Amino acid sequence: MTRPHPLDPLTADELTAGRAILAGEGLLTETTRFPAVLPVEPEKGDAAPDRRVQYTLLDTATGQARDVVVSLSKREVVSTEDCGEGQPAYLFEEYDLAASITKASPEWQAAMERRGLGDRIGQAFCAPLAPGFFGRPDETGRVIRSLTFLRDDESDSPWAHPVEGLIVHIDLTGQRVIRVEDEGDVPVPPEHGRYDGVPARATLKPIEITQPEGPSFTVDGNEVTWEGWKLRVGFNAREGLTLHQISFQNRSVLHRASVPEMVVPYGDTAPGRFWISYFDAGEYLLGKNGNDLRLGCDCLGVIHYFPAFVADDHGHPVEIPRAICMHEEDYGILWKHTDLAGRAEVRRSRRLVISSISTIGNYDYGFFWYLYLDGTVELEAKATGIVFAGAAHPGTDHPHANEIAPGLFAPVHQHLFCARLDVAIDGERNSLVEVDVERVPMGDQNPYGNAFTWKETPLRTEREAQRHADPAKARVWEIRSAERTNRLGSATAYQLVPRPSATLMAQPESTVHQRATFATRHLWATPYRADERFPAGDRPNAHPGGAGLPAWTAADRDLVDTDLVLWHVFGPTHIPRPEDWPVMPVDYSGFSLRPYGFLDRNPALDLPSGASDDHCSAHEH
Ligand code: CO
Repeated sequence: MTRPHPLDPLTADELTAGRAILAGEGLLTETTRFPAVLPVEPEKGDAAPDRRVQYTLLDTATGQARDVVVSLSKREVVSTEDCGEGQPAYLFEEYDLAASITKASPEWQAAMERRGLGDRIGQAFCAPLAPGFFGRPDETGRVIRSLTFLRDDESDSPWAHPVEGLIVHIDLTGQRVIRVEDEGDVPVPPEHGRYDGVPARATLKPIEITQPEGPSFTVDGNEVTWEGWKLRVGFNAREGLTLHQISFQNRSVLHRASVPEMVVPYGDTAPGRFWISYFDAGEYLLGKNGNDLRLGCDCLGVIHYFPAFVADDHGHPVEIPRAICMHEEDYGILWKHTDLAGRAEVRRSRRLVISSISTIGNYDYGFFWYLYLDGTVELEAKATGIVFAGAAHPGTDHPHANEIAPGLFAPVHQHLFCARLDVAIDGERNSLVEVDVERVPMGDQNPYGNAFTWKETPLRTEREAQRHADPAKARVWEIRSAERTNRLGSATAYQLVPRPSATLMAQPESTVHQRATFATRHLWATPYRADERFPAGDRPNAHPGGAGLPAWTAADRDLVDTDLVLWHVFGPTHIPRPEDWPVMPVDYSGFSLRPYGFLDRNPALDLPSGASDDHCSAHEH
């Protein structure tokens, strides 16, 4: 076995070796399954870390789950801990199990017959969905809910044909139906939702991206170097893509960056939807559902792909050969000036794109990290795929769902991502300051009324650092180094620049508010702790709430000159539209981290003036 870097993703050999250690310890039985297998990242500053893997093991016969940490280096089990509240992520085989339990249910069959759909049972698609948490006495342990959709044939998109109001509650451990809700009866929308097979227009001429001398980045294992940037690319089954040890001009910017959680709460009161609030990372696993990306489609140009290995339900390695795509993109102009003599100097911007895409049920999420020549880091989340819809009589005036095709009603919902940014601006000791622009009242300080200024508010504790964005004040959050100043004597800094977006719309009394409290603020900050990784807690599936950020920050720990971790919430709030059907154009959201006095001047003065020659340069005129 070749020795990977401590921050590298797990390899197939390691997954196999780790499973063998578990088997050798007698921890695996016929009914043991592997809901999550994650690398244990080394402690900061540990020069010779032990290579470890955390296995969440589920006994499907009893529903008992535990986390077992294995040392691959020492070939032994390091720790075993029973999982507390909340359920491990779903297994792929549980989706099939839920479908077969549903279809075998006499009550479900009777509901289909009653609706006149008895002859379409063979083409029914059962969508298994996390139930949220409502404390029902008959809904404890490992449960899932199944909604029914129809297909005209095997290739049809089921999401176009919801069977409204038919909800099957399933006990996965007991492999039985808890109950069937059959609420009313509206027609199944007949129009198909196919988006493939459409004759392609012939008017678009090809665009070829060529880099005849190859890309400008170099790759050594998972370490990437590009135009002053250096970083390590990682991947795990839960978060998908992770970035590590990001530096610019040999100065640290971020120790680690990822999107460890997201929640998709629905704003509809209907029996089939009021409980929907997918935690796509914690309940379904973004990495395990990672796409194998395709050249010329997902990414264009000269591409470097990183493979990733995740564990299947039985703990065996599964390769995603092209899990992460990396390439360079032209990004318009970076700077330009035409001087008094009419001479123009212009330099083109370029960015390094590192991306992965996860498909979870009807939705597809792309996570695109961008590094720019001017020192900016950006994350763009791309939400696409198929909006989730129910049915109602065409023309119904519905307060919580918009009619997007005849009789097809897509409920309002949110996609709230939470980025975890372990910042390290010129070292680990950083402080956080909120910066707002501020109006100045007429008077001695503003005799002409034109003046305005800015206000800096230190966010010194975890409570002070729970903040909302405020675009009317151009609000940004500045992360300042405690260890370095620029040539003007100011602390070197980066600013987190949010994009306007709504936070969680659900009421404080709702269960989703308790479970997704992280999504009620745009910003949280915590002092770094290795075990504080997931903002809704380690196990959000069927969890009553309160875990993660609200629990950690209750101590109101000090944040001044500490190893800061920022948690930034962003993402679209959807009132779906007809144009989102039958497949949704990408909805973009994200944020930027831009240097603010980190550098002494524009770092991109030395860019060559043309793409391949000097034709953009002033001296040719
Ligand atoms: Co949406």
